[in-house]
Amino acid sequence: MKIISHITDMQRWSEARRLAGKTIAFVPTMGFLHEGHLSLVREGKKRGDVVIVSIFVNPMQFNQQADFATYPRSLEQDQLMLEEVGTDVLFYPNAPEIYPEGFQTAIEVDKVSQPLCGAFRPGHFRGVATVVAKLFNITKPHFALFGEKDFQQCVVIKRMVKDLNFDLEVLPMPTVREPDGLAMSSRNARLSPTERQTSLCLARALHRAQDLVAHGERQASSVLQAVQEIITGEGGVRIEYISLCHPETLEEVAEVSGPTLLALAVWVGDVRLIDNCVIR
Ligand code: PAJ
Repeated sequence: MKIISHITDMQRWSEARRLAGKTIAFVPTMGFLHEGHLSLVREGKKRGDVVIVSIFVNPMQFNQQADFATYPRSLEQDQLMLEEVGTDVLFYPNAPEIYPEGFQTAIEVDKVSQPLCGAFRPGHFRGVATVVAKLFNITKPHFALFGEKDFQQCVVIKRMVKDLNFDLEVLPMPTVREPDGLAMSSRNARLSPTERQTSLCLARALHRAQDLVAHGERQASSVLQAVQEIITGEGGVRIEYISLCHPETLEEVAEVSGPTLLALAVWVGDVRLIDNCVIR
């Protein structure tokens, strides 16, 4: 696996692959990798002739400095994992490389950035869209893979790619879970054993909602109430939001008719967890 830190070197590498007729798959990450990230890389290997993974903890998308400062980092272990799944290039820039002095451009994807996580993390999706646009221009991929674990992020990136005519295909991939159902996340490492157990209520709540709809419930308010009861039934969990909305516009729905996104964000102690499913 080649490690590239400079933008011009990365662009040159990708351009050469393109001129040789190769297709490039790209997986952007913030590191501290787990099986969820690796599933994207494996799929990238299948879709493209070569796969590039980036690791960059993007200061622009953190709305709390403390969250950025304590974001877990583990470069050596990440490298081993990426080697093992056949990554061709690790793009690993530092912050001044991505945001040099004088940097002042941002991408704002309007409506779909506003609800859900956007309502509680001002500027988050502006930071995500901006860095991802830059990474697309740096790695020049044909395919870019994102996890549905961050469903709104997928929606925002797909919208940006369409609106700004990026010449690539966004491939959303299913959420990878622990055997007990907890969605894998770099943040899970911060949970105490008790909090880890408590966190299982998220997956349980998603299942309950799917069950209710499968058995004929159509009222969003009833489904949301059942979800809320399961989550508040666990001590030590604070709900940030629970939403049933359209999976493309992210507008809230009153009835579950057609595919509907159930998205939730909660705090377990001081760890923020998100999860979602599309109810069909
Ligand atoms: P990060 O949280 O490191 O996630 C990188 C990619 O892995 C994202 O597409 C995310 O949705 C996916 N992912 C995380 N957990 C997953 C799981 N359990 N199953 C499947 N995929 C999972 O998301 C970011 O970084 C950043 O916002 C980034 C896009 C890199 C921009 O800075």
